[in-house]
Amino acid sequence: MAEYTVEFVGTDDVITVSDKQTILRACLDEGIAQEYSCRVGMCLACCAEIIEGTVTQPAAHALSEEEREGFALTCMARPESDLKLRRGVYPPSIEFDAEAGADAAPADD
Ligand code: FES
Repeated sequence: MAEYTVEFVGTDDVITVSDKQTILRACLDEGIAQEYSCRVGMCLACCAEIIEGTVTQPAAHALSEEEREGFALTCMARPESDLKLRRGVYPPSIEFDAEAGADAAPADD
């Protein structure tokens, strides 16, 4: 079993995560405030941008193959190296969906 250091940039949060453990599980065990909801890779609530390092996340169904290169679903992702992650950053597809939703909303009169 290998262990890696996971640093959340912009915070003082640094934890050790084994390659057998999800990043979210390690956060919860350490009392780190990581957002989550479904815990099955579908909702993106736990998403973080990968600033440095690599993860394995074959069950991250809410991310496209391309998005998996730059984002981690922490409820599914296990480290393959030391990591730097930025919380609260979501893939562009989410931003696009939000804009489409705003355009589709009825205007207040
Ligand atoms: S908690 Fe829903 S995708 Fe991770």
